[in-house]
Parts: sequence; structure tokens; C-alpha cells
Amino acid sequence: MENIRNITKDLIYVGCSNRTMPLFESAYPIPNGISYNSYLLLDNKTVLFDAVDKSCDIQFFENLEAGLAGRKLDYFVVHHLEPDHSALIKELVIKYKDVQIVTTQKALNMINQFFEIPENQLNVKIIKEGETLETGKHKLNFYMAPMVHWPEVMVSYDEIDKILFSADAFGSFGAVNGNLFDNEVEFSSLISEYSRYYTNIVGKYGLQVNSLLSKAKNLDIKMICPLHGIILKEHIPEITEKYASWATYTPTIKSALVLYASVYGNTQNTAEIIANKLSQEGIKNIKMHDVSISDDSYMISDIFNYSHIVLLSTTYNNGIFVNMENLIKEIVYHNIQGRTFAIVENGSWAPVSGDLMKKELETIKNTKFIENKFTLKSSLKSVQMNELNEFIKTIANDIKQ
Ligand code: FEO
Repeated sequence: MENIRNITKDLIYVGCSNRTMPLFESAYPIPNGISYNSYLLLDNKTVLFDAVDKSCDIQFFENLEAGLAGRKLDYFVVHHLEPDHSALIKELVIKYKDVQIVTTQKALNMINQFFEIPENQLNVKIIKEGETLETGKHKLNFYMAPMVHWPEVMVSYDEIDKILFSADAFGSFGAVNGNLFDNEVEFSSLISEYSRYYTNIVGKYGLQVNSLLSKAKNLDIKMICPLHGIILKEHIPEITEKYASWATYTPTIKSALVLYASVYGNTQNTAEIIANKLSQEGIKNIKMHDVSISDDSYMISDIFNYSHIVLLSTTYNNGIFVNMENLIKEIVYHNIQGRTFAIVENGSWAPVSGDLMKKELETIKNTKFIENKFTLKSSLKSVQMNELNEFIKTIANDIKQ
């Protein structure tokens, strides 16, 4: 049975949600599920904006058929060719034989990479920056958004209803739970999942996100229809402000994020003492993760938001402890610039993890380090407390600057 809803008089939500898949992109935990948003415009011409993941194909085709209510599908706008939105292209062009795909040249190249669709079944209109498509009453303007999140991405803007179809931008993890609009939910409770989605999925491409934000600034946007998550109407300034910070790697929380890798609890003990004493130095909103327990996606999101990161790792196989090493690789891959790191190493015979962590992190632009790492030999000793207190004061003073 179809499950659709009008967004405006002419625009219908025909997407679906998945709450059984444990990981998005086989990598990111989605305890609250994920939505695959697809939109159908009923004008003189009918327009489908993106499709869905193959995991909800039956629901999607029921929705589309109900939305069309006997009309033919004229255009299928492919903003983003990643299979969570495009896996059903072949089925769509077989079912809706007259449909014209509206997309970028790069997306067309990828269509031919992902699918084998006979040429005579593929009717494609290639879109370039600034081009428009008139569908009757509505006029769609297209803007390229390369690397937000793949190179072929574009977004479109309905000049009449002032709606931005933003592809992956402004999306979030989390299924649609009946409430489709941001004024139907407690929006502040969703920000952490917007952050985890943005930072992990497109966070590496701040420059390109900034370029999209500059284009969006010139548009009078009343509504944002992203490919994941709810539709934004009332919280557009709030979310664009967050995007402006994330895209420029500007911390949103001036405080310490304490991340530790501990095998027998001694490194953790120092992490807890550092957090405790930082709090007594007046630092608020301190957050901690055991890197062997927390999923990287949550920590990457926090690193994007925190100004100061305290890293504590035991030395393991003459290197960095494995889960900390993986996290540091993720920080480098995501290009999280402009952070200040404080380094604590532990080692029972040859502590080297501190220098190794620093070596990896200093490859990132504008990275700073709290002077002097702190070294543990197996466990913290009372003779080290003065040195540790000084180390903590230096971190606190740097945060307060
Ligand atoms: Fe939701 Fe980049 O795909």
C-alpha cells in the first residue's frame, strides 16, 4: 500500500525509510534508521526528483504509482548517482518508457558504469551549471555541487515554490517517523545526527560545501528537500549556520574532547583525571570516548565540533594502539583542520605512541599541539602529578584563550 504525503499542492513525498539496516554505506551505525527521500512534482509535466535505495523498492514503486495517479512520468531528475538514490534507474526506465533522465554528464558516465541499460532505452538530458527546466507552472534552476558528496552531484531550485532540492546536503541519519517537516519535531534533538551525517559523509569536502553555500546564499529558500532526513522549513538559518562552521572546520564547542585507548585501565585513569581537573579549571562541556568502544563516526562528529582534542594511547606492537590508530587515520582522511591536540602516551618498555600520533596529525593543515606530550610508564605515579597538573593547566589556558 502506498504511503505518500503532499509537501505542497504540487509536490508529493514518495520516499521511504529503512529501520532494519545496521550500517549506512556498510560503515556508519544507524540506530535510528535512515530515510531515502524521493519527491514527485505534478505540473504540466511530471518530475521525479531522485529515487531510493533498492531495499525499499516495493514501497517506492507503490508510492510513485499512487502519486502519478495514472499520469505518465516525464522527467526523472538525478541529482546524485550514488546507488542509495539511483539503484532503481534501470527498473524506472523500463516501467516508465517515455521518461527523460535529467542529470549531469558525469552522472551519465556513472549510469553506464553501474548499469547495463540499452542505449535505445536511455533518454537523457544533460544539464550544465545555471540551466533551467520549465515544467509548466514551475521552473527548475540547476546548480552543480561537485563532491557534495560525489563529483557528479547537482542541486535544483524551484523558482516558483522556492524549494531547494539539495541532494545529500542538509541531510541527516534517521528514518522519517511520520513527521516529515522540521516544525513537527524537537529539532534540537536531531542536531547531533545532522552533524554525524555531514561530518562523516561529506566532511572531507569543506571547500566544495562552501561553494554550494555561496550559491545557496543568493537564493530565496523557503524549503529544503534533502535526500535523507526531514524537510527543512523553520530551521534553515540554524542548519546553514552549522554547515558554515563545519565546512570551514570551525569548532562549534570551545572545550576538550578526551579520547583514550587503554588496555588495562591505567591510560583511562589518566584520561579521567585530566577530564576531572580540566573541569576544575573551569572547562565546561568536556566529552570523553573510549576509542575501543565508541564508533568512529560519533568521534569524528565530535572532533569536527570540539576545539581541543586530548588523545591518550598506549603503545602497542611498537606503534599506536590499533583503535586509536584507525581513528587518527580517519581524522587525517576527513581533513579536520585547525584543531589543537594534547598528546599522552603510555608504554611499559618503549613508549612511542605519542610521537607517532603527532607525526600523523601534523600532516593536517593548521594543526596545533599543546607543547610537551605527557608520558606514562605503565601507570601514573604521584611524582608525576606536578607535571600532569602543569600539562592540564596549559590545555585549560589554551581553551580559554
Ligand atoms: Fe545519500 Fe551520497 O548518497
